[in-house]
Amino acid sequence: MELGQVLLQLLSESLGLDPNYLRDIGCAKGLCVAGNYYPACPEPDLTLGISSHTDIGFFTVLLQDQLGGLQVLYQNQWIDVTPIHGALVVSLADLIQFITNDRFISVHHRVLAKAVGPRISMACFFRTHLPTESTTVYGPIKELLSDENPPIYREATVKDFVSHHYSNGLNGVSPLEHFKL
Ligand code: OGA
Ligand code: NI
Repeated sequence: MELGQVLLQLLSESLGLDPNYLRDIGCAKGLCVAGNYYPACPEPDLTLGISSHTDIGFFTVLLQDQLGGLQVLYQNQWIDVTPIHGALVVSLADLIQFITNDRFISVHHRVLAKAVGPRISMACFFRTHLPTESTTVYGPIKELLSDENPPIYREATVKDFVSHHYSNGLNGVSPLEHFKL
C-alpha cells in the first residue's frame, strides 16, 4: 500500500498536478489483491492462461514467479515481460486512462499457457472503492482539459464503470470505448 501511495504521488506530479491530487479524489481507497494460479497445461498452443484484457483500476502492481508467460501489447506486437528476480511489474489500467483523458494509456496484456507449471502471480489492483452500487462520479480531470484537449469521455458513476467492465468480459475490446463522447 505504501508503494501504491508513492506511485500515485509520482503519477500526480507527472500530470502537473498537486502530489496528493490522485489520492485526494479517492484513487487509493480500494486495494484488491488476486492470487493467480495457472496449472501446467497439456496443450498450451490451444489456449491462453488469461486472454487479452486491461485491468479495471488505476494501476496494478504484479509479482510474477520465474516461469514467465506475461506479455504486453506494444505497437501491435506481444512483448514478453521477462521475470526478473525481486522485480515488481507496474502497469496502468483503465480508470487512469479514463480520468487522464488518454494522457496515460492502459496496457493490454495476457498470459500464455505453459506445459510447465503451476505458475503463480500476485496482482495488487490499486483502485477506488468499487462497490457495485456506488454513485460516485468520475470523469476526465478538469485541470487536464483545455480547448486543445477536450474531454474524450463522458462522466460515469463507479456503478456504471464497474458493471460495464464486468459485462464486457475478456474479449480484448477496451471497455473505455463505451464511455467515449
Ligand atoms: C490479472 C493479470 C497477470 C499475471 O490478474 O489481471 O493480468 O501475470 N495477471 O498473472
Ligand atoms: Ni490483468
